[in-house]
Amino acid sequence: MLKGKFIVLGVTGSIAAYKACELTRLLKKRGASVQVVMTESACKFVAPLTFQILSENPVIKDMFKEPSHWEVEHVSLADKADFFVIAPCTANILAKLASGIADDMLTTTFLATKAKKVIVPAMNVNMYENPVTQRNIEILKNYGCHIMEPEEGFLACGKIGKGRFPDPEEIVEYIEKIAQMQEDLKGTKILITAGPTREYIDPIRFISNRSSGKMGYKLAEAALERGAEVALISGPVSLEPPPDLQIFHRVETAVEMKKKVDELFPWADVVIKAAAVSDYRPKYRSEHKIKKSEEEVFIELVKNPDILKELGEKKGDKILVGFAAETDIPESNAREKLLKKNLDMIVLNDVTKQGAGFEVDTNIVKILYRDGRIEEFPLLSKKEVAHLILDRIKALLKC
Ligand code: CTP
Repeated sequence: MLKGKFIVLGVTGSIAAYKACELTRLLKKRGASVQVVMTESACKFVAPLTFQILSENPVIKDMFKEPSHWEVEHVSLADKADFFVIAPCTANILAKLASGIADDMLTTTFLATKAKKVIVPAMNVNMYENPVTQRNIEILKNYGCHIMEPEEGFLACGKIGKGRFPDPEEIVEYIEKIAQMQEDLKGTKILITAGPTREYIDPIRFISNRSSGKMGYKLAEAALERGAEVALISGPVSLEPPPDLQIFHRVETAVEMKKKVDELFPWADVVIKAAAVSDYRPKYRSEHKIKKSEEEVFIELVKNPDILKELGEKKGDKILVGFAAETDIPESNAREKLLKKNLDMIVLNDVTKQGAGFEVDTNIVKILYRDGRIEEFPLLSKKEVAHLILDRIKALLKC
């Protein structure tokens, strides 16, 4: 998997830096070219010569050193890299990366690269658990970095807890999994809907819901990372679509969403309906702002089309995935929807649980299948949930 890949390995000033020597050796053994970049403090822990010998490449540490041939070195390195791995990564470097600071060779190259980024933090347990570090990790995850969780155990500082640098063999396996993931949905066309719809009462007011669109956007991002072709149809949200997206449409109302979904349905192999579609719309949409009066106002609502149910009726061999955000008897409601809408699977989240549902970056989901199976998952980031949904879709595509 890593044969012929160009890996930039960033080493920062942690006692675990010596374990990066073994990591370099293992990556070389897998057939990768390794270019080590060290921070100034990393050089205090391990001599660059060790990495130079193991990687069979001169170590880069100085941004202003005369290059041996004329190329802007940090840019050419950034362009060449297939993977940019920082292992071990200190709390200080994590903070710099999360805020876009580029004040040495490592951080500058990191900012300039479009390679897959893997970060392996290693530090004292209190530093790791500090909310600032956790926030930085979340920021980097949201920018698409893969962050490998440190292990629990005895730390060099004498404490016991989370923060230990993982076994280098496990780090290599983690990178291999990411390398494999890049291609595993290649050739699959995935149509995703995200966000709420707006059902206008007049030009100013509308009926909508609390959906932020985050889950659908993370699904689009994750599917692109895995090589799928992605069409995203989005209700009004404040998110930017992923840069490499092939097809993107913004819509407002359920009727507009249905029109775009129906247009793209023949193209898609998989449809994931993460959008929170309004079930009703006002029967009349006033052309002018409705003025206040002394009387009570009643808004008559008519039913919107059930987009997913209609897709279920003409499903063929496409994979259909629905979402169900529930507050009462969640499982039986979700199962009913799965069967009524003729879906392959439905992702259920009980929005009354803390960390699940609207606006937040995390979710707690269960996945229900046609054969009665239910899988339950712990609190995960929406990106992690996106990947596990795609894993299940991949398995269904193979059947
Ligand atoms: N859905 C849809 N069109 C609608 C309503 C829902 O395509 N008019 C889709 C959603 O995108 C979601 C699934 O159906 O994937 C379930 O949506 P949900 O709102 O939970 O279910 P409803 O069928 O609307 O039932 P209820 O609101 O009564 O729970």
